[in-house]
Amino acid sequence: MKFAFFDAKPYDRESFAIYEEQGKIEFKFFETKLTEDTVGLSKGFDGVCVFVNDVVNANVIDKLREYGVRMIALRCAGYNNVDVRHCFGKLHVFRVPAYSPYSVAEHAAALLLTSVRRIHKAYNRTKDYNFSLVGLTGFDLHGKTVGVVGTGKIGRIFIDICRGFGMNVIAYDKFPDETSGINYVDLDELYEKSDIISFHCPLLEDTYHMLGAREIEKLKKGVVIINTSRGALIDAQALLDGIKARKIGAACLDVYEEESDIFFEDFSGHIMDDEVIARLISMPNVIVTSHQAFLTKEALENIARTTVENIFEFSEKGFCQNELCYRCGKIEDCKNQRAKKCF
Ligand code: NAI
Repeated sequence: MKFAFFDAKPYDRESFAIYEEQGKIEFKFFETKLTEDTVGLSKGFDGVCVFVNDVVNANVIDKLREYGVRMIALRCAGYNNVDVRHCFGKLHVFRVPAYSPYSVAEHAAALLLTSVRRIHKAYNRTKDYNFSLVGLTGFDLHGKTVGVVGTGKIGRIFIDICRGFGMNVIAYDKFPDETSGINYVDLDELYEKSDIISFHCPLLEDTYHMLGAREIEKLKKGVVIINTSRGALIDAQALLDGIKARKIGAACLDVYEEESDIFFEDFSGHIMDDEVIARLISMPNVIVTSHQAFLTKEALENIARTTVENIFEFSEKGFCQNELCYRCGKIEDCKNQRAKKCF
């Protein structure tokens, strides 16, 4: 089988190399993202392997189908960049539902600690032999209230980490697990009571800009916002305004709503056209990482293994347990449809 592998980075090639060596699958690595302009590269391949910022909209899906591609192997958990509904009856879509929820939860915690203890500032100062402490005053996490939005695999690990710090955890989830011992509140209450808010829910129609100007008004002054989930959960312009108004105390962002043209690439030496991200990065109380939360050795190994297993499971059995099919209405769990083969 031949797969066109888009947005390929050196660490991807390394983690997938072992499967190529086994000779059962051939990957052609393309540095470019999959877009309407680059979809032609997928001619003659059985499938495409894509990541979070590849564009898999209706036009791309129709072209892939025309070129004889049958499978889209997502090497990530989130699938907001794929028009899953349009894929139905045309292309089979698989994802990697979990590869290391620890990697993302631990990155959220790393960002939080870095921000509240001003480690990013201290690191730069001591590199320059500046040992002044002025302006580096942080605050204790112990006793603070953290609001966790989305209590799935990643959210729960983040909750455990926060509990380890002696924080008071409240959470919001559209589908709360009442047996979990998590203290659920409604979203407004979470926004009003939290000293720190961390987002761990998927980007869907009803979560788009779930933190916007109106919600920011409700927040505690000085609140720390962490987003390691998907950029468009937060209205970035409203966030920037909230920081400028001194309402938001700090923001830790691993994702950004307009990240697809920026993240994963080296723009040092270029003029940044995106005014919002440029202004956010200029703030002393904003930390931006470039969709890096997943990037651990363990996660990369798991991503490669599950992606390849998905492809082989589908090829051998005609269905794949990690197939995304909108028809069941429960995209997360469509076992019945799978067993009967989705289409
Ligand atoms: P999960 O599926 O285990 O959990 C998601 C949770 O969100 C579930 O409990 C679900 O009930 C809840 N949810 C669904 N709709 C909601 C809504 N409208 N409001 C509030 N909660 C809602 O997913 P997991 O593995 O915990 O991942 C969470 C998100 O993290 C993913 O959707 C993905 O966008 C992001 N992610 C980011 C990565 C990064 O590198 N920055 C890597 C992997 C995932």
